[in-house]
Amino acid sequence: MARRKKIYEGKAKILYEGPEPGTLVQYFKDDATAFNAEKHAVIEGKGVLNNRLSEFFMTGLAQVGIPTHFLRRLNMREQLVRQVEIIPLEIIVRNFAAGSMAKRLGMEEGAALPQPIIEFSLKDDKLGDPLVPEEYIIAFQWASQQDLDDIVRLALRVNDFMSGAMYGVGIKLVDFKIEVGRIWDGDFQRLVVADEISPDSCRLWDLQSGEKLDKDVFRRDLGNLTDAYAEVARRLGVMPTNA
Ligand code: C5P
Repeated sequence: MARRKKIYEGKAKILYEGPEPGTLVQYFKDDATAFNAEKHAVIEGKGVLNNRLSEFFMTGLAQVGIPTHFLRRLNMREQLVRQVEIIPLEIIVRNFAAGSMAKRLGMEEGAALPQPIIEFSLKDDKLGDPLVPEEYIIAFQWASQQDLDDIVRLALRVNDFMSGAMYGVGIKLVDFKIEVGRIWDGDFQRLVVADEISPDSCRLWDLQSGEKLDKDVFRRDLGNLTDAYAEVARRLGVMPTNA
C-alpha cells in the first residue's frame, strides 16, 4: 500500500500529508524520550493513550471556545489536524513548582506558586530547548509582542480549562507545555493550540496521594508508564479498547 508523504518526524509523533490541502495526519508513536532524548524507550500502547487523551483535551478546549488544530481522530493512533505554522516556542504554564523550575530556584517540588507562571523555551532539540526571555523572542522575531500577549491569554485559558478538568477527577495540574501555531486567513493570522496535550506534556499528581500520573514516571523510573496514563484516561472516561 502506498504510504503517505511524511512531512516531519519528531520524538513521539509523525506528521503525514493529510487528505485535503491544509490538513495533516498526526501519528502518535510509542516512543518515550527524556532528558533531551538521552533516555529512550518504546512503551507499547503509549501512543494510543496519548492520541485519545489529546483528542479529549483538544475537543474540550474547542467546546469552551479555545481554538486548536484538532479536526478529528482517525483511528487508534492517528488524528486529522489543521496544518499550522508552528511558533518555535514551548509555552510552559506552572501552577506548582516542579521539574526544572524547582531545580533552578531551589524550591520544594509541589510548592504552590502565587499565580500561574508562564515561561518560554526555544524549540531546538540540539540546544536542549533553552529557556528564553521575552526580549530574545521579540528581538529574534520568533514571535511579535502582540503574538506573545495573545499566547499568554491563550495559555491561561488552557490552564483554566485543564486545571478544572483534572481537578474534577481528583488530579492536580502541576504544570504543562503547549505549542501554538498560526493559521493564515489572507493577511490575518489566528493562533491555535497545536501539537498535543497529554500526560507526556503535563505534570499530573493524584490530589490525595500525590502519585505521579505523567511522564515523570518514565523520567524518574517510578513504575509502569502506561498504567499511569491509563489511570488518567479511566478517570476522564476516555477508554481505548485495544492498541
Ligand atoms: O522540565 P520542566 O519542569 O521545564 O517541564 C515543565 C512542563 O513542560 C512539564 O509538564 C513537562 O512535561 C513539559 N515539557 C514538555 N516538553 C519539553 C519540556 C517540558 O512537554 N520539551
